[in-house]
Amino acid sequence: MQLSSKVALVTGGAKRLGKAIVMALAARGCRLVVHYHTSRAEAEQTVSELLAGGHEAIAVQADITQEADVERMIETAIVRFGRIDILVNNAAVFFRTPVETLTLDEWEHILEVNLTGTFLCAHKIGLRMREWGWGHIINMTDVAGLRPWADYIPYSVAKACVITFTQGLAMELAPQVRVNAVAPGPILFQDDTPPDVQQREIAKTLLKRAGTPEDVAQLVVFVAESDYSTGAVFTIDGGRSLT
Ligand SMILES: NC(=O)c1ccc[n+]([C@@H]2O[C@H](COP(=O)([O-])OP(=O)(O)OC[C@H]3O[C@@H](n4cnc5c(N)ncnc54)[C@H](OP(=O)(O)O)[C@@H]3O)[C@@H](O)[C@H]2O)c1
Repeated sequence: MQLSSKVALVTGGAKRLGKAIVMALAARGCRLVVHYHTSRAEAEQTVSELLAGGHEAIAVQADITQEADVERMIETAIVRFGRIDILVNNAAVFFRTPVETLTLDEWEHILEVNLTGTFLCAHKIGLRMREWGWGHIINMTDVAGLRPWADYIPYSVAKACVITFTQGLAMELAPQVRVNAVAPGPILFQDDTPPDVQQREIAKTLLKRAGTPEDVAQLVVFVAESDYSTGAVFTIDGGRSLT
C-alpha cells in the first residue's frame, strides 16, 4: 500500500511514541491529523515541524473518552482533508496500580481511556471508512495485553481487551477496512519510573536495551503498508515476551 497522500489521524500524536509515528507517516507522504488532549503546545510544535517540512497537517483537541469530542475531532479532520484513511489509536494512560491500593476510580479511568477511547475512535471512524470503501486502523496495545504485568492489572486488562477488540472489528469491517494491533515492550518509560526499575525491565529483554519510539514508528509504517494483514498483533519488545 502506497501511503503517499493518505490521511492519517494519530491519537496522542503530540509527543513521545505518537509523535514518532506522526513523523514516520509524514515521511511516507501522509497528511496528518495530530490529535492531542492536554498537550496543546507540543501538538502545535509538532504541526509546525510538519508544515516546515512541506507536509500537510492540523492539530485537533479531544478527550477520547467523550463521544461528542470524538465526533467533533472526526468532523474537523473530514472538513480539512475530506476523509481519514489511517487511524492510529495511540492515546493511553499508564500508571502503577498495585492491587492493595487499586481504587474503582483508577480502574474506570484506565479502562475508559485505553479501551473505551480506543473503541469510540475505531468504531466511529471504522464505520465511515467502510462507507468510503477503504481504511486501516492500527490499535496500540502492549505485551502486557498478552501476559499481564504485576501491579498493572487494569492497564493489562484494557490492553488485552484492545487485542480482542482489534480481532472482532477486523472480522466485522472486512474486507474494506483492515484492523491490526501493535504491541510494544519497554520503549519509553514514564518520567517518574525510577532508574533501577528501568534497568530491571531492560534486563528482562533478550536484546538488553529498551526500544526507541522510532523502532515502534517503523513497525507502524510497515503494518500500514502491509496489504494482507488484518486482525493481527505485531509485537516489538526486544524479546521480552520470551523471558
Ligand atoms: N512507552 C512505552 O514504552 C510503551 C510500551 C508499550 C506500549 N505502549 C503503548 O504505546 C502507546 C504510546 O505510548 P506512550 O508512552 O507514548 O503514551 P503516553 O505518553 O502514556 O500517552 C499518549 C497520549 O495519550 C493521550 N491521552 C491520555 N488521556 C487521554 C484522553 N482522555 N483523551 C485523549 N488523549 C489522551 C495524552 O495526550 P496529551 O498529552 O495531549 O494529554 C498522551 O500524550 C500507548 O498506547 C501505550 O500504551 C507504550
